[in-house]
Amino acid sequence: MKRLTVIFSLILMIVSVNAKTLIVYYSFSNNIHRVVTELQTQIQADILRIEPQEKGLDYAANNYAIGSALISDIRQNPNSESSYPAIDPVNVNLSEYDMIIVAAPLWWSNMAAPLQTFLFRYGSQMENKNIAMIVSSASSGISGVVGDAKRLIPNGNFLEPNLWIRSSQVSNSRNLISTWLQSIDYDNITSTTLIDKTTDISDIDIVVNVDEINIIGEFDSVSIYNIEGNKLLETNDNIIKTTNIIHGIYIAYFHKNGYQISKKFQIVAK
Ligand SMILES: Cc1cc2nc3c(=O)[nH]c(=O)nc-3n(C[C@H](O)[C@H](O)[C@H](O)COP(=O)(O)O)c2cc1C
Repeated sequence: MKRLTVIFSLILMIVSVNAKTLIVYYSFSNNIHRVVTELQTQIQADILRIEPQEKGLDYAANNYAIGSALISDIRQNPNSESSYPAIDPVNVNLSEYDMIIVAAPLWWSNMAAPLQTFLFRYGSQMENKNIAMIVSSASSGISGVVGDAKRLIPNGNFLEPNLWIRSSQVSNSRNLISTWLQSIDYDNITSTTLIDKTTDISDIDIVVNVDEINIIGEFDSVSIYNIEGNKLLETNDNIIKTTNIIHGIYIAYFHKNGYQISKKFQIVAK
């Protein structure tokens, strides 16, 4: 028989509903990718990386000729889908998210073309969502990129300020990101208490046994993160094997009907 080690629900009486965040980004030379990787250590968010359908293109070759041509096509006819380069199919349900962080490289004063393709298709589904912008350039100012986002997400609730990270600052972006998160009031914006709408998921308990945790209650899916913010797994099972998980504090994010609650639990040393 399994030994009951910890019942954590007792100390988790407060139900706070964390708004769910999506970080959507494109990165050609991986500066934005590195910024997003750092950002992920500071907030809980799902990640969506946009990839062009045509692989192996060097957008920077010949004085950025290919990238320049793509931007030129969009500038000439921004309302036509055919102006935007094809991207790989994406699997995202935007209705799950209250906050979307758009992280974009700057190309010739504009948003990198593949990310514009994504926003051209999905921007209208971001109505009334909080939109926060991170932009990286070598040196050019970012207002054109923000302008692209506002054109492509016409009814987004854009947060200020935007975060501008020059290429030279990428390897040292930790402080820039944490200061920026404070300046947009990220914690308050993404932590709302909607008890009336969440009562149906507020009574979930986590029972930690020796080699597994049992989840009592109903939910659509649960994501388990370690304390550093790394996602270990996502499942809809009520029993999760923990044999391969080292002891420590973990956070479970339960989702149901578009709402989310988080609960901490501990796996003790065996
Ligand atoms: C096609 C292309 C055009 C660019 N145009 C500019 C520019 O006009 N001004 C600038 O400061 N940086 C420009 N850059 C540099 C990128 O904005 C910068 O290196 C950024 O950090 C790249 O992000 P990434 O590594 O995530 O792709 C350009 C880069 C490319 C590939």
